[in-house]
Amino acid sequence: MNNRICEILGIEKPVIQAPMVWLTDAKLCAAACNAGGMGSLGPNAGQTTVTRDPVETAEHMRAEIRKVRELTDKPFNVNILPPYGDTKDIFTPPMLKVIYEEKVPVVTYVGGIRPELFAELKEHGIKIIFRSLDPDPDEAREAVKYGADIIVATGFDEGGTLPDMTLGTFSIVPLMVDAVDVPVMAAGGIYDSRTFNAVMALGAEGAYCGTAFLMSEESRMAENVKQAVLKANAKDLLLFRTIPAYYRSLPGALANKLVEMDKAGASNEELGKTMGGFANLRKGMLEGDMENGYVSVGNGISFIHEIKSTAQIIADMTKDYH
Ligand SMILES: Cc1cc2nc3c(=O)[nH]c(=O)nc-3n(C[C@H](O)[C@H](O)[C@H](O)COP(=O)(O)O)c2cc1C
Repeated sequence: MNNRICEILGIEKPVIQAPMVWLTDAKLCAAACNAGGMGSLGPNAGQTTVTRDPVETAEHMRAEIRKVRELTDKPFNVNILPPYGDTKDIFTPPMLKVIYEEKVPVVTYVGGIRPELFAELKEHGIKIIFRSLDPDPDEAREAVKYGADIIVATGFDEGGTLPDMTLGTFSIVPLMVDAVDVPVMAAGGIYDSRTFNAVMALGAEGAYCGTAFLMSEESRMAENVKQAVLKANAKDLLLFRTIPAYYRSLPGALANKLVEMDKAGASNEELGKTMGGFANLRKGMLEGDMENGYVSVGNGISFIHEIKSTAQIIADMTKDYH
């Protein structure tokens, strides 16, 4: 395939293995790159422990970036998450230092628009894939004004931190395609050629997928979780409110409790505190403790029936495009 996404990113197939905190690592990232798509390293990629130290977090990323380079010479990206609003951003500056020093070619910028960061990334010749947690056309246009090269339109079908607005992938993708001149990638519930073809028909020029790659041979998600996801389908997933908006999880003691709390009218802050942030995602998905942690996957799981290699997932997804 050769379209605008492939040209901008220097890849052969417009499919990105999206950032997913601890669930990403050099192995999965390089597998996506070597299959002609693009892999991402999310925060804490390749790690098993939690650190709250920004410099240590960035240095861990440096080590993982170097591992990617041992496994592929293709372009890849690193995820940055500048906070929304006035929250002090302690993680992005040391992460950017590493990104510049290691000459990472692309970032997935997910979070609040900070014009000075866009300018800095552009000065370093880095391509910017911008994804809002809560996509809206005005914000996308603003990101493009500051230099975003690609916009990701994320629908409510996705796994991970869900948008506050509940537009499905089918609704948000054309809205964003009409809003900007740069190419749009679709995220949320894309896992095979049917869903890939559908978002391309809606005007997207590529797919940005998390859940599909969690279920790959190369993914470091715990084996018992992979087996549980294979048996589950989208209607098994529990939905609850939390900070910043919604989350989905396979059932388990913690997820069941969050749903009960939500029904009983607990505040978002109480729900967020009980949920325990990404540490409990790590517990559920990396360590396989599905009772005390949670398992965040997207609605696409209904149709994932086998664990395939990352290369096979990308080949199957794009099989109708040459
Ligand atoms: C377990 C999990 C962790 C995630 N972590 C991150 C993250 O660290 N940074 C980020 O920008 N998005 C994160 N996401 C969102 C993905 O990058 C992507 O947008 C989403 O998975 C696409 O929807 P899909 O899962 O239906 O393919 C995460 C998603 C999942 C499922």
